[in-house]
Amino acid sequence: MNLVESVARAASYLERHGVSSPRLNSEVLLGHVVRLERVEIYTNYDRPLSAAEAEAYKSLLVKRAGGCPLQYLTGAAGFMGLSFEVGPGVFIPRPETEVLALKLLEGLPPGRAEILDLGTGCGNIAVCVALRHPSAVVVAVDNDRRAVELCESNARRYGVSDRIRALVGDLYDALEGRSSPLFEAIASNPPYIPESAVGGLPVEVRDFEPMEALLGGPDGLDVVRRIVRYAPAHLKSGGRLLVEIDDGQVEEAMNLFDGGWEEVRYHEDLAGRARVVEARLVATGLSGVNPCSEHR
Ligand SMILES: C[S@@+](CC[C@H](N)C(=O)[O-])C[C@H]1O[C@@H](n2cnc3c(N)ncnc32)[C@H](O)[C@@H]1O
Repeated sequence: MNLVESVARAASYLERHGVSSPRLNSEVLLGHVVRLERVEIYTNYDRPLSAAEAEAYKSLLVKRAGGCPLQYLTGAAGFMGLSFEVGPGVFIPRPETEVLALKLLEGLPPGRAEILDLGTGCGNIAVCVALRHPSAVVVAVDNDRRAVELCESNARRYGVSDRIRALVGDLYDALEGRSSPLFEAIASNPPYIPESAVGGLPVEVRDFEPMEALLGGPDGLDVVRRIVRYAPAHLKSGGRLLVEIDDGQVEEAMNLFDGGWEEVRYHEDLAGRARVVEARLVATGLSGVNPCSEHR
């Protein structure tokens, strides 16, 4: 069977198993097996598949039909036009998080800027910020060692590992005992799905992605509360905190910024859904920490 015949057959198999965008999935998986871009499948349409390639393709199709995310099968996920290495056990970057990265970048001064990325996952935000802001230095924290290793690998791949320090640890605790700067900005796409919503998640999320990366306690805001509460101890005077949330959480999340914060607002994605809350630590005129803030 040639490439185009294989794709057509695979697409109909995936469609029968309820996979959305079956043609796209079939092309991406075949491209992964034969090491061709999707369009090259068609420019090489009559190239036959070897027995080994056919076997490898079949195995990936069966896993995809069983719900395994495409990105885990190919080991790659797109974010802000770049390809990031991902793998099982580590959250797959979503396009809606691009709002967070863009708003973070928008407010950075042109010179050296120290950024803290809490819950970095595969390092997609950290790497994009380092690439687009050549003087940014990012501390990228995750409590999952596999995520931190992927972040380091993605930083190497894009040549920014000299400006990304990836640390394993629980939020700000990861900075303890290290010479850590006060940050110009803290950004986080934390777990924020309420525990009660697990049943409603698509199978490929619920059964394949790490729950620790997704669930944020009873109302989804457990991790967000900790991030907001202890941020003042780690921000420069006038520094910004940006946190991704779900549309339905925006009011409650904005209410967390009580006292000591100004310019509390939210940003919408292209579909008009609130995705990010942002606030600025009230400028004290001192370059250091708000003396009343708690360290953590
Ligand atoms: C929703 S994912 C976001 C990953 C990535 N930043 C992105 O935007 O695609 C949340 C990440 O936070 C990490 N995480 C969850 N709880 C954490 C904690 N207490 N301390 C540090 N990282 C945490 C998870 O391992 C996961 O990688």
